[in-house]
Amino acid sequence: MESPFKADVLKGKVALLTGGGSGIGLEISTQFGKHGASIAIMGRRKNVLDDAVSALKALGISAVGFEGDVRKQEDAQRVVESTVKHFGKLDILVNAAAGNFLVSAEDLSPNGFKTVMDIDSVGTFTMCHEALKYLKKDAPGRNSSSGGFILNISATLHYTASWYQIHVSAAKAAIDALTRNLALEWGADYDIRVNGIAPGPIGDTAGLSKLAPQEIINDNANDRLPLYKVGEKWDVAMAAIYLASDAGKYVNGAVMPVDGGMWLSKPRY
Ligand code: HXC
Repeated sequence: MESPFKADVLKGKVALLTGGGSGIGLEISTQFGKHGASIAIMGRRKNVLDDAVSALKALGISAVGFEGDVRKQEDAQRVVESTVKHFGKLDILVNAAAGNFLVSAEDLSPNGFKTVMDIDSVGTFTMCHEALKYLKKDAPGRNSSSGGFILNISATLHYTASWYQIHVSAAKAAIDALTRNLALEWGADYDIRVNGIAPGPIGDTAGLSKLAPQEIINDNANDRLPLYKVGEKWDVAMAAIYLASDAGKYVNGAVMPVDGGMWLSKPRY
């Protein structure tokens, strides 16, 4: 689908995306790039990164990949610094890296719980912490009248409760708390905006294939989907462009559900 935004809405911006090589992260990378941003993506798998960078470059997007695990502070620091070295500055950080599997609370080991908390929540904090000095308005290369922008991808699982997702619900709730607290502190101190997007069921993603049975995805009459359809990665990326661009300049500390209203919904009868 054609973007409703002008192609230069992120012109000149440099964005670093964790998990930017696949799924929702790759779509945000692609759309940010198509709207003028230079893209650095961080991920654990070299082949995934290489394929993503090639795909971005084929679209004429300036892109680079850096291998790294958000659970390792030294990786976070190295990748943030490599991004600034490569592109000269950092304007936007998107935390899209996540880990997930379905398991009952009874069968989940404490280390399984910790693993998802470490990737999603601690990883998000670590990336934000390492990026801070480069997102300040007077950071090297930025010389901007405003601070940078952080976007954290969470979910709607924790708005209620979700079967076999206790670890991910806890991790995503923590991400939303990080979003609000950093928006408060870094908004006031550095004019950095920090917002979140909470995607619902989005087609063609690892999240959906891991979590939702195919019959739910295919059943257009399913009353659990208020808009009677699964979302597209594009929907999340368009929300991300709105928040990252000047259109969202007064939006701070917000977590925008992009779920067609699903989290509100109950079966009709
Ligand atoms: C139960 C499991 C498990 C499973 C791992 N563990 N998989 N427990 N069921 N299916 C437990 C292990 O037993 C171990 O605990 C601990 O978790 C760590 O496992 P490792 O395999 O050593 O971890 P690691 O290699 O670091 O892999 C991380 C991972 C993996 C998250 C477990 O699945 C992964 O890397 N996935 C790729 C990324 C991903 O999942 N993307 C999807 C994102 S979708 P013990 O006690 O045995 O040592 C998404 C959507 C969210 O996030 C919202 C949707 C609405």
